[in-house]
Amino acid sequence: MVGHNLRLLPVEHKDVPFTGLWIGTWSMGGEGFGPHDLAFSLSTLQEAFAKGFRHFDTAGFYASGRSEELLAKAFSKKRKEIFISTKGGLWRRGRKVWHDASPKALRDALYQSLKRLKTDYIDLFQLHWPDPGVPVDESLGAMEEFKREGLIRFVGVGNLSSQMIRAYIKPGMLIAHQVHFNPVYFETLDSLRAGKEGARCINCVTSPFEQGLLVSPIYLKKRLGKKDVRNRNPLFSDHALKKRLQYFFDKCADEGVSPAASITGWLLAKSEVDVVIPGPRRPEHIHDLLEGIRLDKSCVDLVVSELLQNPKK
Ligand SMILES: NC(=O)c1ccc[n+]([C@@H]2O[C@H](COP(=O)([O-])OP(=O)(O)OC[C@H]3O[C@@H](n4cnc5c(N)ncnc54)[C@H](OP(=O)(O)O)[C@@H]3O)[C@@H](O)[C@H]2O)c1
Repeated sequence: MVGHNLRLLPVEHKDVPFTGLWIGTWSMGGEGFGPHDLAFSLSTLQEAFAKGFRHFDTAGFYASGRSEELLAKAFSKKRKEIFISTKGGLWRRGRKVWHDASPKALRDALYQSLKRLKTDYIDLFQLHWPDPGVPVDESLGAMEEFKREGLIRFVGVGNLSSQMIRAYIKPGMLIAHQVHFNPVYFETLDSLRAGKEGARCINCVTSPFEQGLLVSPIYLKKRLGKKDVRNRNPLFSDHALKKRLQYFFDKCADEGVSPAASITGWLLAKSEVDVVIPGPRRPEHIHDLLEGIRLDKSCVDLVVSELLQNPKK
């Protein structure tokens, strides 16, 4: 892991031990991830803060703004001690989802986020997804304007292809780029590599546990509820992967490490990865993430090798 992410620190940052591990709050908003308990979400955030985490990732899109409201509720008295990363450009009404990352829509999204987060600045404001109808540089230009106005501290992007990175992100820009990547979701590796060429991006890996599939044995058998967003994820019904997952869970048990810790450790050790953004839901999940920082690399490689494509199994 490269230390570029050190520049993305909270305003008051005397003790920030984990700059490479942020807390994602998508599922904590309470929509689309099965049963939800607000008290658990709040205590998870409080536990994360108590254990030294200071970076929290959200989006106006998540749970129709409720993930942002949750952060405001949890950290109303600690605003300057935490780093809030949020996003705009992806919209939803009911079941309809659409892109609008025009300058006006991004400004609307930013104002809504500021209101829900009860703050007068956002640390990192990102283009959630590139909008097929708006060139990425137009969206970036709008966000640079927000920065000049003092409404945001840093500009970021999400889900850009390697071609887009080379076309729109100049060498040396070092802007945060969120990319879905984990031991079973590799197709974005070229984007991570493009981000490292000439220090274009701080690579922030999202859904490191493939929305829970890689760390919770219950998903080997459990049927998801009708409204669960993971019904759209084909890996949740991939039988060959589930077979590999069983080997992985067994190996983790043999080695005495948790699946979440081993994947966290594996990702943090990759040269293409600067930041890992998991989505814990319960206070005890924070413990696994901390274990992931400390794990021995050879142990991590041993267990995660069960997850990587292995034709013999
Ligand atoms: N920029 C983007 O487009 C984008 C896209 C996706 C995600 N993200 C960001 O990435 C974050 C994480 O992604 P994600 O929510 O999709 O899922 P994830 O981190 O891949 O998986 C989270 C799920 O793993 C399970 N889990 C079990 N043990 C855990 C542990 N020790 N720590 C954490 N989770 C554990 C929980 O499921 P159970 O409920 O089964 O316990 C939890 O809901 C999001 O919250 C969001 O901030 C960004």
